[in-house]
Amino acid sequence: MALRRFDLEAGGDSFAFKSETEEKIAFWRGKYPADKQRSAVIPLLWLAQKDNNGWLSEPAMREVANRLEMPYIRVYEVATFYTMFRLQPVGKFHVQLCGTTPCQLRGAERLKEVCKKEIGKPMFVTDDQRLSWEEVECLGACVNAPMVQINDDFFEDLTPESLSAILGRLRHGADVTPGPQIDRVNSAPEGGTTVLTDASLFDGSRTRVSALPNLPKPPEPTPEATGLPEADAPTNTKREEPTSKEIKS
Ligand code: FES
Repeated sequence: MALRRFDLEAGGDSFAFKSETEEKIAFWRGKYPADKQRSAVIPLLWLAQKDNNGWLSEPAMREVANRLEMPYIRVYEVATFYTMFRLQPVGKFHVQLCGTTPCQLRGAERLKEVCKKEIGKPMFVTDDQRLSWEEVECLGACVNAPMVQINDDFFEDLTPESLSAILGRLRHGADVTPGPQIDRVNSAPEGGTTVLTDASLFDGSRTRVSALPNLPKPPEPTPEATGLPEADAPTNTKREEPTSKEIKS
């Protein structure tokens, strides 16, 4: 693992959670007993990162430690271990580019070249403060490789052209659409579904009422129920055998 240091200079001297974050802090702290509050350190660091423009300054980590009554070093250990916590400033839109094998085999190297060309070196923040990027390990969307995560959204099935267009739109404040950037729905096959395409599989028309073999048989319908004269009504009574006397006559 790379050595990760705080950017002490950029962090300033103070940090305060936003007032609207207090409710979320209370939610996470409420999950743990009073003597186990430090278990909330990761969610609180995550909220602090969100309130600090996408990275954790040293005062932000101290604030988390104070809230949870933890030694500062314990919070620093967590923040420096997990790469989801960033220890230096990032752009308004921070690109995490997956460079792990499936994405690499599907063109992540070419996406990296786009980031270098359009943003600069990893963790460099553009002059307009809008973009920065870094390479990360698998983000769990390998089936849609290659992909990047920008802030909280995944952008998948990328090409150098589509990534370049997304970065251009973000730079100019235009909307972007997360998800696959080709003709596919989520992780379904490119170009549309190729199996289970028969609509009758899903409209209920194949549903049959089935009977369990060991259930008692339902009673035969009575003449009143069928509306037929008694002679015509179905019956399951056994036909009476003629007696010997009747045969004779
Ligand atoms: S390898 Fe890139 S998302 Fe898994």
